Amino acid sequence: MAKYGQGDTSFLAAGGEEGVRKLVDEFYLQMETLEEGKEIRAMHRDDLSMITDKLTLFLTGWLGGPRQYGEKYGRISIPMVHRHLDIKEKERDAWLFCMNEALKKQDYDEDFKTYLIGVLAFPAERIRQVSQSARSSEG
Ligand code: HEM
Repeated sequence: MAKYGQGDTSFLAAGGEEGVRKLVDEFYLQMETLEEGKEIRAMHRDDLSMITDKLTLFLTGWLGGPRQYGEKYGRISIPMVHRHLDIKEKERDAWLFCMNEALKKQDYDEDFKTYLIGVLAFPAERIRQVSQSARSSEG
């Protein structure tokens, strides 16, 4: 597993930008289709095309590929863009569940799938913490 996370190894293991785009398309399709995704789907706008592009470009840079999100949309703090949403363990786990289902459908090495869902759990948990502390400080 140590082979991922260095330089652009993860980006390449995901099939480059085209591979990341396929994953993200499948992720939102899963969110739209699965019972487990219903509640978090409802948090999003009806039209998912903008967020599909944003998550694709964000993950491209996050996996060590070109930093396209910043070029197109500007600076981003992942916890802060979710702060207005009420994300508890259930919502965090639903997001990761949909991502895991999408990963199962990709033509990636199995150890890369395991690696990726494992590392995505960190920002997902951080989002939950910031969301919940924003709520408790606002009362
Ligand atoms: C923890 C569970 C998560 C939930 C329920 C969730 C939900 C959402 C929702 C509803 C939006 C749209 C916000 C809006 O337009 O008001 C959004 C935006 C976004 N999310 Fe998440 N998200 C989660 C985790 C993640 C993770 C782990 C990542 C990245 C690794 C991520 C990346 C993004 C990005 C890049 C945007 C677009 C931000 C922007 O440019 O406006 N999300 N998310």
